[in-house]
Amino acid sequence: MSNHSKIHILSEKRAQSRLGGGAERIETQHKKGRLTARERIDLLMDKGSFREVDAFVKHRTHDFDLDKQKFMGDSVVTGWGTIEGRLVYVFSQDFTVFGGSLGEVHAEKICKIMDMAMKNGAPMIGLNDSGGARIQEGVVALAGYSDIFLRNTMASGVIPQISAIMGPCAGGAVYSPALTDYIFMTRNTSYMFVTGPDVVKAVTHEEVTQEELGGASVHSEKSGVCHVAADSEADTLYLIRKMLGYLPQNNMEDPPFMPGDDPLRMDEGLNNLVPDDANKPYDIKEAIRMIMDNGQFFEIHENYAQNIVVGFARLGGHSVGIVANQPAVLAGVLDIDASEKGARFVRFCDSFNIPIITFEDVPGFLPGTFQEHHGIIRSGAKLLYAYCEATVPKLTVVTRKAYGGAYCVMSSKHIRSDVNLAWPTAEIAVMGPDGAVNIIFRKELEKAKDPVTRKAELVAEYREKFASPYVAAERGYIDDVIEPKETRPRLINALEMLGNKRDTSPAKKHGNIPL
Ligand code: HXC
Repeated sequence: MSNHSKIHILSEKRAQSRLGGGAERIETQHKKGRLTARERIDLLMDKGSFREVDAFVKHRTHDFDLDKQKFMGDSVVTGWGTIEGRLVYVFSQDFTVFGGSLGEVHAEKICKIMDMAMKNGAPMIGLNDSGGARIQEGVVALAGYSDIFLRNTMASGVIPQISAIMGPCAGGAVYSPALTDYIFMTRNTSYMFVTGPDVVKAVTHEEVTQEELGGASVHSEKSGVCHVAADSEADTLYLIRKMLGYLPQNNMEDPPFMPGDDPLRMDEGLNNLVPDDANKPYDIKEAIRMIMDNGQFFEIHENYAQNIVVGFARLGGHSVGIVANQPAVLAGVLDIDASEKGARFVRFCDSFNIPIITFEDVPGFLPGTFQEHHGIIRSGAKLLYAYCEATVPKLTVVTRKAYGGAYCVMSSKHIRSDVNLAWPTAEIAVMGPDGAVNIIFRKELEKAKDPVTRKAELVAEYREKFASPYVAAERGYIDDVIEPKETRPRLINALEMLGNKRDTSPAKKHGNIPL
């Protein structure tokens, strides 16, 4: 055979591989409003940067007549490329081949690329569109998933792992993403469930649609499984590109530096943000935007546990993670979901050398039987543990209430926060004036001729004496009380002061966070 013919065969094989499950199935995929595995990669990566591997791999299964359907590359496309010039590894499951299901060689392809990502210290991105374990391959498919789960776990805290859910993902196709750092979903076309609606009906007799069972709204608002939900596949992939800009390539690097606007900028609006009435809400996201570089904030879990706000921003060009109580939702109280949301974010930042900025305005933990019965003690302890454990630079700004256990938890000085600032509106005490007076003056109030007036007097006295930042500042628990508008320059200064921070924890196999 001539060289020319051999080259012709190569290009034919490549073309065949690029077709996945064939033109008809690609059309069906498009009709469902979904892109193909390769179209997604093209949108995700810098133009022309993707290098595919294992395009010629074929499955080795003989059962169920699978011999007759051998698709080049099987049901996943793998390789590497760049995003904003930085190396990333990617797999993109091909729903047109056996519904993107995972068999032996599909798993081998993913494992190969994950091993490369780990060895070379670059993020791993998985674009998931899969019916889970390939049923015809039986335990071999389960073994393949297990190989991936192990790698997900080994890679955790070493390289950022990001999952996008791009179709109906079931079984193992949701557990691998669940082990990664962030899950992105596309509204109306992506679903995540351990078992699909058919199985749910057979077992529980419950009729549910894919959307009701595990659509993007369910997971970004109720379960918290999804961190970022977008309106289209293109948006989903764009947001992944954007988020990577805040992250280092691996745990041995610092996040990328990108100069922002004037580090000395002071926003007068901050001085008027907190209302005079301590019980009135305000939006902490306004403060975040006024303080951060170019007013930009990449929010994670935007619609889940909105009483706490977490996300990435830049301060003086440095990437930072923000954790902020949100007084505009449930008065910023800490409940089970908020505690878990905050804890996971703090641990991510700590793993990847991203300083943590905490904005605190929290009346305490949410009381009540629901919270107690569902484990607020355990969940609150997760957030506490995460903050105690974190050794990255930690800066705290108390904007208003820092009451009770929540004072300790929200990156207080005592759990090795580096710089703690308070606005003059801060109220740092064991509890709010009303609750405190009810308890310590109960007997006096019972005997009082005019309990209402007496209580008002006692509340005013308590507020005057304790509901301020100065008792804490006298002890050095607060490093300084600042004008709100000074927050940006003061945080940037503190961040740069902490540029060479080194802190460690005792050597151990691993701690035992209260899961
Ligand atoms: C083999 C599969 C498959 C699978 C789908 N297909 N899932 N083939 N193994 N797991 C095939 C279908 O037979 C079909 O082939 C094609 O993919 C497209 O699937 P459709 O059902 O037509 O698509 P759709 O209506 O969009 O529904 C998608 C779906 C559904 C919701 C994902 O296919 C489904 O429920 N699949 C099974 C999900 C599941 O239970 N997986 C096993 C999980 S166990 P044809 O040729 O007919 O077009 C697991 C264990 C892991 O993963 C361990 C975790 C800890």
